[in-house]
Amino acid sequence: MIKFLPAKLPKDTNIRRIDSTWDYKGEKTKSYTHCMHTYPAMFIPQIAKRLLEQYSKKGDTVCDIFCGSGTALVESRLLGRNSYGIDLNPLATFLAKVKTTEIDNKLLYKTYFKLIDDIQFINDKEITIPNFKNLDFWFKSPVIKKLAKLKKAINEIKREDIKNFFMVIFSETVRLSSNTRSSEFKLYRYAKEKLENYDPDVIGIFKKKAEISLEGMTQFYKDVDKNTWAKVIFGDSSKDNGIKENSIDCIITSPPYGDSRTTVAYGQFSRLSLQWLDIVDESDKVIQIDNDLLGGRATINFNHTLKSKHLQKVIEEIKIKDEKRAREVLSFFIDLEKCIKRAYLILKPQKYFCIVIGNRLVKQVRIPTDFIISELGQLNGFSCENLFVRNIPGKRMPIKNSPTNKVGALEDTMTKESIVILKKIK
Ligand SMILES: C[S@@+](CC[C@H](N)C(=O)[O-])C[C@H]1O[C@@H](n2cnc3c(N)ncnc32)[C@H](O)[C@@H]1O
Repeated sequence: MIKFLPAKLPKDTNIRRIDSTWDYKGEKTKSYTHCMHTYPAMFIPQIAKRLLEQYSKKGDTVCDIFCGSGTALVESRLLGRNSYGIDLNPLATFLAKVKTTEIDNKLLYKTYFKLIDDIQFINDKEITIPNFKNLDFWFKSPVIKKLAKLKKAINEIKREDIKNFFMVIFSETVRLSSNTRSSEFKLYRYAKEKLENYDPDVIGIFKKKAEISLEGMTQFYKDVDKNTWAKVIFGDSSKDNGIKENSIDCIITSPPYGDSRTTVAYGQFSRLSLQWLDIVDESDKVIQIDNDLLGGRATINFNHTLKSKHLQKVIEEIKIKDEKRAREVLSFFIDLEKCIKRAYLILKPQKYFCIVIGNRLVKQVRIPTDFIISELGQLNGFSCENLFVRNIPGKRMPIKNSPTNKVGALEDTMTKESIVILKKIK
């Protein structure tokens, strides 16, 4: 195994080092339970693994404060670390929980074959059609019936962990058989002409995904360190989530790159799945998710206490072009600083906080989020130990966007991302 040593860097917030050994171009990223469900801006497992190996040790307790679908938690359990994961998206916490819960493959396969058999015998009278706004807009009527049958069959599984495993696959099936363009994270409906002949094979999609996931879980069951645990918390990382102060040995995370309105809409991505799954009681809450995430509510004024010079500079530049956008960017960093303060509290002294982040473009102004994080970290009790840049060959991100919102005015935004290594001083 190659051991990568952390490079020593001058403690300066204005230096980035390009390190292509972090690219992992062409490598398999869907091993273990990482294959079960798509999620926007997922970690490359190799990155989470390498950060865990470098900045924590076996037996440690680590935390991912924006755990998303749980990539870092899966890797933690494989590497003998206990872990906490926090996220404000209920679909994310559901995925993270299921992906980190090992299940004996013999039982899983047995249940799977029974499930596939059972579906054939469920008739239309037995099913419950979910009741949410625009159901018919997002799903064709035969698809709705088939999904409802699948859901009924899964709900009859007695063991909770096994039922949840198949519910994750069901969630992916919902997305892939809906009228949305599955290559997008935002909800865009297929064009009318495409929909006329659109006839997705719901059960076929489910089976294909289930078989890949069964293999992934078999691998995970075999290699997971059974003495470890992963606890997934549905919560806001800018607040107290019950994790004790000075109790965490390492934080490894990848925050959103900006607010959900103008970057990745995690809530929108999760909406149809959540409306089909029964994990959120009120459908209004599902629609609200994006407002609760970092920068979800724009600040009304510019009187703020963030002392980052890099941030002040870009806010001024964006403000000249568009005041509203400047306020949105500022809100994002106000929320992010609250999370950095909270991270400081839960981390043990002398331990590391590793942040993987991209520098987005707003109104053609490049926001040096990595430098800003480094500065905010240093203003809140951390030293910046390292800051390096990798190319993104495989991360599912919008590679191009329209910085001016003009059709055809595309510009590269996310072909690189930075890894900022902070250390809690005391
Ligand atoms: C880049 S994604 C993380 C992806 C994750 N590394 C993975 O591999 O799936 C960022 C996550 O931050 C979450 N998030 C945004 N604001 C949050 C907040 N205030 N508290 C907790 N989670 C938040 C989003 O729901 C999203 O899942």
